[in-house]
Amino acid sequence: MSSFWDCVVLLLGGLAVLRTDGFAAQNKNNIPRLKLSYKEMLESNNLETFEGLSNSSSYHTFLLDEEKGRLLVGAKDHIFSFNLVNISKEYTQIPWLAAPNRRDECKWAGKDLSRECSNFIKVLQPFNHTHVYACGTGAFHPVCTYLEVGRKPEDGIFRLGHHVENGRGKSPYDPRLSTASMLIDGELYAGTSADFMGRDFAIFRTLGRHHPIRTEQHDSRWLNDPRFVGVHQISESDNPEDDKIYLFFREHAMDGEYAGKATYARIGQLCKNDLGGHRSLVNKWTTFLKARLVCSVPGSNGIDTHFDELQDVFLMSTKDPKSPLVYAVFTTSSNIFKGSAVCMYSMADIRRVFLGPYAHRDGPNYQWVPFQGRVPYPRPGTCPSKTFGGFDTTKDLPDEVVTFARAHPAMFNPIYPINNRPIMVKSDVDYQFTQIVVDKVEAEDGLYDVMFIGTDIGTILKVVSIPRGSWHDLEEVLLEEMTVFREPTAITAMELSTKQQQLYLGSDMGVSQMPLHRCEVYGKACAECCLARDPYCAWDGSECSRYFPMAKRRTRRQDIRNGDPLTQCSDLQHDEEANGLTTLQDKTVYGVENSSTFLECSPKSQRARTHWQYQRSGEERREEVKSGERFICTDQGLLIRTLSKSDSGVYICQAVEHGFMQTLLKLTLEVIGTERLDTLLQRDDERSTPSVYAPPPQESPNQRLWYRDFLSLVNHPTLHSVDEFCEQIWKRERKHRKQKAHTIQQQQQSKTLAAPSVQVRSQMHTPSLAAKWKHLQDRQKGRNRRTHDIQRAPRSV
Ligand SMILES: *[C@@H]1O[C@H](CO)[C@@H](O)[C@H](O)[C@H]1NC(C)=O
Ligand SMILES: *[C@@H]1O[C@H](CO)[C@@H](O)[C@H](O)[C@H]1NC(C)=O
Ligand SMILES: *[C@@H]1O[C@H](CO)[C@@H](O)[C@H](O)[C@H]1NC(C)=O
Ligand SMILES: *[C@@H]1O[C@H](CO)[C@@H](O)[C@H](O)[C@H]1NC(C)=O
Repeated sequence: MSSFWDCVVLLLGGLAVLRTDGFAAQNKNNIPRLKLSYKEMLESNNLETFEGLSNSSSYHTFLLDEEKGRLLVGAKDHIFSFNLVNISKEYTQIPWLAAPNRRDECKWAGKDLSRECSNFIKVLQPFNHTHVYACGTGAFHPVCTYLEVGRKPEDGIFRLGHHVENGRGKSPYDPRLSTASMLIDGELYAGTSADFMGRDFAIFRTLGRHHPIRTEQHDSRWLNDPRFVGVHQISESDNPEDDKIYLFFREHAMDGEYAGKATYARIGQLCKNDLGGHRSLVNKWTTFLKARLVCSVPGSNGIDTHFDELQDVFLMSTKDPKSPLVYAVFTTSSNIFKGSAVCMYSMADIRRVFLGPYAHRDGPNYQWVPFQGRVPYPRPGTCPSKTFGGFDTTKDLPDEVVTFARAHPAMFNPIYPINNRPIMVKSDVDYQFTQIVVDKVEAEDGLYDVMFIGTDIGTILKVVSIPRGSWHDLEEVLLEEMTVFREPTAITAMELSTKQQQLYLGSDMGVSQMPLHRCEVYGKACAECCLARDPYCAWDGSECSRYFPMAKRRTRRQDIRNGDPLTQCSDLQHDEEANGLTTLQDKTVYGVENSSTFLECSPKSQRARTHWQYQRSGEERREEVKSGERFICTDQGLLIRTLSKSDSGVYICQAVEHGFMQTLLKLTLEVIGTERLDTLLQRDDERSTPSVYAPPPQESPNQRLWYRDFLSLVNHPTLHSVDEFCEQIWKRERKHRKQKAHTIQQQQQSKTLAAPSVQVRSQMHTPSLAAKWKHLQDRQKGRNRRTHDIQRAPRSV
């Protein structure tokens, strides 16, 4: 970076930032504290990637096996087995293609050969200690087989079985549809579509010793064009006979349920021991019930904004295995309002609704109302068991129970989320949520749920919800936003390994792996570590590192609930070395009267607000710099539009986050009068022109061009003299360069290592800024041409 260049940036950098970024006020609480690009993730060794095979795609079906240390991934025509420690280090793959005759049939049926007539793996479920059950679309002809994985990781066994069976009711025909499946006790529960046309959606139970069983066919009250997102088994009591299977899906509202077309999010329940009815509902579920999951926020106009497009569900276990917390991710149906939300439901609320009134309708032209009449015994939806007595199997149920169940699959009341509102909403962004996993993390001051949310643009949000006093008042802290795929792509699969402390992500493009925490990125100071409020991380006396509840260390500092560095770190403040805060050096920058200048100061945390204070030379008093005509405070720094000599003085940049203030930068601005500038420019090289703080290097013709462009951009009053002023300084600096180079390099290093990312003006080398300059340049083509012409004239530098 040449001082010539610095000079230019010093004078003009601010305006360019101003023009491209604007100054729209942002809600700081809704933006991530740290944002890491794909490149930054790779360069900081926080991302391992598998970028896919050229003959495969759709890495959507995950099976995590922590015991064997493997991640199985089902994709187009292949099943992969990755090493959980490092997915890019070692993996094996098995090709599993659709039979050639099936491919031909698929093609003749008018399907796209490469995009549809392949075998897209949709089901990977653990079958027994040595085998995994696998199903794929088989070119619109679903197939399943047993995949041998060995008993121990050392066995190194990974091969497909020879026996292939019919996959109808297990995998969809159409690769664009999905299956939500779970294999329990040798039986496969699957919500999927079971025909070529993609019209017959059902919940199936197949495999095992029982006759296959499904939901009632062609009855839109049961299922109405559903899309399944998850299946879970949850015990109802200590008696396994009461075990239930819950399915999560979205579907069209029932006829008459909503005026117009609407999507509703649903939870469906089934008894694990349901064998179907005896005279009616033969080989159909007799215990199926569904209820609506509501996730909405009240609007200012009294109309609620509903998030109905259920995308994913994660069950977080609690002390009571019968009552996991249900985390669900939703998006909106509206094309106009794009938003996403996370809602949390309790099993108590879910069970209450399934024990409440059934939705009832007397005929096609009637409203759905709560059923008021006598409900037959045993109450439909109750599992046959000794707990409630009387019936050993659903085949023994009285006819009136089965008849009632058939006509009343839906509950009248919806299920509302805990606290009646989402725990997180995002609506001001150009992406939507797709996936969620949650980790329970033990911190110094309690247990925290940390959410990892996948988006449709290949990013992961890491969010912690912190009680603000009570459980009913949660504060969402968006800790990090990380890009985990090279190109924007929807994250379609997500698994978290507590054992490995890693997260695995799938998309159309490939598979990525990232650690759950990277405490070192929060900075090198106790205060920063504390402000991060990441339950995974604590200040251990010398650095921000992984917090382990077991290791009792007196020096450990962490405060998730309050994020208060004053109580946690104040006794460390005096010890700057240990604290990582290097002493703030006084730096001097120069500006020219009537020109503009930009004092750059951007805190590492995107959530911090910067404040500027001004101290006149020789005075004690500091005053707040207020945005106005001449001063503009931006997230990147302070822009002073038209410098006057009275602006000379000391400028102090402070970051305020979570009520904690940190001084990031202190610099002295000296405004040079135009008249003095003229004299300066006439002086000889050896005259002591002001020393400009800047690292030396080469001036390229490119930089000159840019520099000229910027000058023309701002229409600088004394364009010519400023130009020469910069040239002079640059020329003089070159002489001192060699001897200075070493010291400056050291300064630079300590600067980048020092906690806050503070740089005085000279940041042109960063790609984003360079891109902005480029953009500006393009916008100013007309003017550029003129300046280029001037540039071509020989100059004597
Ligand atoms: C993972 O493996 C790749 C390829 O062998 C290697 O380059 C990388 O450093 C490894 N990552 C870690 C975290 O060990
Ligand atoms: C796809 O390509 C990989 C290597 O690039 C190869 O090992 C694999 O067998 C191919 N799969 C099929 C189904 O041809
Ligand atoms: C697991 O199931 C497969 C497929 O049915 C069978 O061949 C194998 O013997 C079973 N293994 C064990 C350990 O039961
Ligand atoms: C600076 O600008 C002011 C107002 O535009 C003008 O009066 C003054 O002459 C300018 N000073 C110099 C040195 O150009």
